[in-house]
Amino acid sequence: MIDVNFETKVNEARAKELIGLIKADPMGGWANLPLEIDQKELARIKKAAEKIRSESEVLVCIGIGGSYLGHRAIIEALGEKDIDIIYAGNSLSHRELDKSLAAIEGKDFSVNVISKSGTTLEPAIAFNAFKEKLIEKYGESEAFKRIYATTDATHGTLHDEAVEKGYKRFVVPDNIGGRYSVFSAVGLLPLAAAGIDIDALLSGAYEMAKSLDESDPKFAKNPILKYAFMRHDLGERGYDTEVFASFEPATMYFNEWLKQLFGESEGKNGQGIWPASVVYSTDLHSLGQFMQDGRRNLWETIIDFPTDDLNSKVVEAVKKAHSAGGIPVLSLDVPSYDEYGFGELIYFFEMACAISAKLFGVNPFDQPGVEAYKSELKKLMEVQ
Ligand code: PA5
Repeated sequence: MIDVNFETKVNEARAKELIGLIKADPMGGWANLPLEIDQKELARIKKAAEKIRSESEVLVCIGIGGSYLGHRAIIEALGEKDIDIIYAGNSLSHRELDKSLAAIEGKDFSVNVISKSGTTLEPAIAFNAFKEKLIEKYGESEAFKRIYATTDATHGTLHDEAVEKGYKRFVVPDNIGGRYSVFSAVGLLPLAAAGIDIDALLSGAYEMAKSLDESDPKFAKNPILKYAFMRHDLGERGYDTEVFASFEPATMYFNEWLKQLFGESEGKNGQGIWPASVVYSTDLHSLGQFMQDGRRNLWETIIDFPTDDLNSKVVEAVKKAHSAGGIPVLSLDVPSYDEYGFGELIYFFEMACAISAKLFGVNPFDQPGVEAYKSELKKLMEVQ
């Protein structure tokens, strides 16, 4: 299981209270998800994934924010098998859209469109473009059989269209928000289609979730709690930036997922720690200078996967040099670089983030700030 290399005082009563609040929250459904996997839903997901794999060379995953970063993080880290996964609808750049449309030219493909609200602009635009391509290539009836819509159970434009056209539907549960949804169909369908072992992923998450057992005499030593209380303590002491550091270039999207998880969960009411990231040794030759010697308002959280001899020497060197440079260096030892390890990691960070946000006195599950730009954009679009 994941372990941490530091000691900190965990307020056991407060930890229990916060976990209770998180699990009872109307958006806290993710907290017990790995412990209560719906086997029928899992079987449906695997069946759909097999169909996608058998008839497509490419799966286009359309979604933004929590509707794509989790599965992309794992697929980029572990690699897809016998199929290409491409991503669309995560920006409004027509150049990016053209690039993704070019990637399916002459290939058999399917589309998994993921949007809980079913109304988000970026995925909606990309979905229309790919739907047109599907219809052009396969005709309407076959095209609609190649569309997999993951959305709200009862509401939204995407939901209504999926019902009308007969797309295969998967549900984003009401009590789970985008950035906490990796272990629902949001993450599991594209992951299974990519050939990722989702059973192993879920068993990593299960072990991590089970470890937070309040009756365990060692409860206060749980690494999730140590990490959550440590980052709050650092924040209170004026460290306002956390730099997630990994030594595996393929985990760049895992860093992106982390930044979204912490940024959207914690950054509100003037609170929160700014989540930043580096990938070493690459970034030792750029941001490494700042880490060693720049402004001392940051700490480093090293995500330490088992690695080869040379890379592990780099890890040790970084820990020593940066500690000597005067920044707190936290290290998370991850047991394995595989589905199981990522299952543990994702649950670890989801729960730690929710606890940490609560310690800062903010609601981990809303994102009122995201609406501000949306309403400005809406005004500008209405003017045209
Ligand atoms: O974590 C979140 O809740 C957000 O990042 C959403 O996932 C993102 O805004 C996309 O929303 P939707 O799934 O409704 O299209």
